[in-house]
Amino acid sequence: MESEFWFDSWEQGGTKTSFHLRDVHEHARMLDRLGLVAGARVLVPLCGKTTDLRFFAETAAEVVGVELVPRAVAEFFAENGLDPVEEEPDVFRCGNLVIRRQDIFRLGPDEIGPVDLVYDRASLIAFPDDMRQRYAETITRLVRPGTRYFINTLEYAPRLPSPPFSVGPAEVVERFGHAFDVEHLAAEPRPDHRMVEKFGLASLVEHGFLLRAR
Ligand SMILES: C[S@@+](CC[C@H](N)C(=O)[O-])C[C@H]1O[C@@H](n2cnc3c(N)ncnc32)[C@H](O)[C@@H]1O
Repeated sequence: MESEFWFDSWEQGGTKTSFHLRDVHEHARMLDRLGLVAGARVLVPLCGKTTDLRFFAETAAEVVGVELVPRAVAEFFAENGLDPVEEEPDVFRCGNLVIRRQDIFRLGPDEIGPVDLVYDRASLIAFPDDMRQRYAETITRLVRPGTRYFINTLEYAPRLPSPPFSVGPAEVVERFGHAFDVEHLAAEPRPDHRMVEKFGLASLVEHGFLLRAR
């Protein structure tokens, strides 16, 4: 979606930001159990104000979130009782946790530096088809051989014209298979997901993919 959509969503809050979870996501915990977080430099694109940032920061060497909307960044620090230092314009640091207030499409590999793990929850699926391709190209430019890239998606039917968009295994392989080895780690049916009743969906599956950059 274009920037305006996200600025409006954060302005309105409530159901418009219902992607925000109160608790750490189970997939973030799974990556920790797999030993991919401790000592790693973790990039969290489109981080919103997710509590996963703090969870990773407990053991990671450094966690770098990237978020477009200033309100989301401000809410993250305020709700977590943190007082960050703005070490460069729009780059906020609190210990080993950094949030860059910036458009992911303008982020280059030199700015971000070496990344061990990219954690993508509800980020690829935040964009419509044409933007997903640009997003895939952007993330592919930010990694180096060996970087692990975790992608969480929702796949559901019938498809909806607004985020979260439905993305399944075939699309992940199609968009990333040329540059990454793709492992499909999780496919969890979620009949109780809030979207099922709200949109009358016939099915909804939450996926987890673990990629390795070649
Ligand atoms: C669906 S939310 C996911 C948030 C977070 N990953 C989570 O798990 O709660 C998508 C987030 O991406 C942000 N966003 C949208 N477009 C962006 C862009 N081009 N660059 C950086 N952030 C963006 C939105 O403001 C929003 O907070």
